[in-house]
Amino acid sequence: MAILVTGGMGYIGSHTCVELLNAGYEVVIVDNLSNSKIEVLQNIQDITGKGFKFYKINMLEKDSLERVFHENEIDAVIHFAGLKSVEESVLHPLLYYKNNLMSTITLCELMQKYQIKNLVFSSSATVYGIPEKVPISEESQLQAKSPYGRTKLMIEEILEDVHQADQQWSISILRYFNPIGAHESGKIGEDPLGRPNNLMPTITKVAARKYNILHVFGNNYPTIDGTCIRDYIHVTDIANGHIKALKKNKNSSGIHTYNLGTGKGYSVLEIISSFEKVTGVHIPYQIIAPRSGDVAVCYANPTKAEKELGWKARKEIDEMCMDSWRWEVNKMNDDLNKVNV
Ligand code: UD1
Repeated sequence: MAILVTGGMGYIGSHTCVELLNAGYEVVIVDNLSNSKIEVLQNIQDITGKGFKFYKINMLEKDSLERVFHENEIDAVIHFAGLKSVEESVLHPLLYYKNNLMSTITLCELMQKYQIKNLVFSSSATVYGIPEKVPISEESQLQAKSPYGRTKLMIEEILEDVHQADQQWSISILRYFNPIGAHESGKIGEDPLGRPNNLMPTITKVAARKYNILHVFGNNYPTIDGTCIRDYIHVTDIANGHIKALKKNKNSSGIHTYNLGTGKGYSVLEIISSFEKVTGVHIPYQIIAPRSGDVAVCYANPTKAEKELGWKARKEIDEMCMDSWRWEVNKMNDDLNKVNV
């Protein structure tokens, strides 16, 4: 019996596949490689020493996706596949609604047809919008502020309805806070195509001297040093949350939502100084105007996941910074090797 991982070649998906394979699960990956590279396959294999199946498929093509269900004995699904840029979603909302919603609906139709009713869905803290108070619990008001965020929220609602109609479904919705870091081997990590928007990949690129300077968006927020506070969490901790959710789904039906965060917030300047301390690399930065849509403070109350899933984030900020940097250094070395061949 295998776990189908949609979007398994992406940042969180690839780390989850590693943890699944290490825990002895059979894995089948579906990914269209729209925001990931084929090398990730080999790297997952190198880390785990295990084999798995991979299908390059666009999930909007139902017949192609059905082949995966036909050819494999799928036990449960972890659904990561989706477009994930806030900025791009504002420019191309229809693309986001079509891709993210239709692929989920197609997936659920096939799960229903093949009587597979165990699903873990990759959601985001973006569904909380501007939080009324912190820490943010799962009961906080939901108010996504971008088309991307609204696709996550709409999918959560679709899944509620799917469960309402057929209560045999076991669904876990995982709302991630700010995933950073990389596998400790440095073989897989965040590798966005094009210029990153998120903080950590930008810091590592400044450290690698691919960019001259880090722009810090605003220092006039009501926080300890005026810069925004976020709940940064190691991607391997997030990956392990999926395994805990799979296990919970297997033992009970229902639909449950969990925050995956550490419960601790760090400011942008604190992240820069942690990064500099553990790597010894100076990060030149300049304060510029606040980024539109940024909230001052956002961190999780992760106690529900701890109580109900037995999951807790383990890795500290220094390890997150070091692992992010190791991954960037390895990528630089790979690029140099390609040039020298
Ligand atoms: C962003 C997305 C969110 C997504 C999350 C995933 C937005 C509005 N939100 O959240 O939907 O789930 O990433 O990781 O895009 N910063 C800088 N300089 C930079 C980049 C970021 O100062 O070059 C600051 C930001 O202002 C923010 C903090 O760093 O205060 C974190 O930013 P980022 O990594 O983009 O995450 P979020 O904005 O929290």
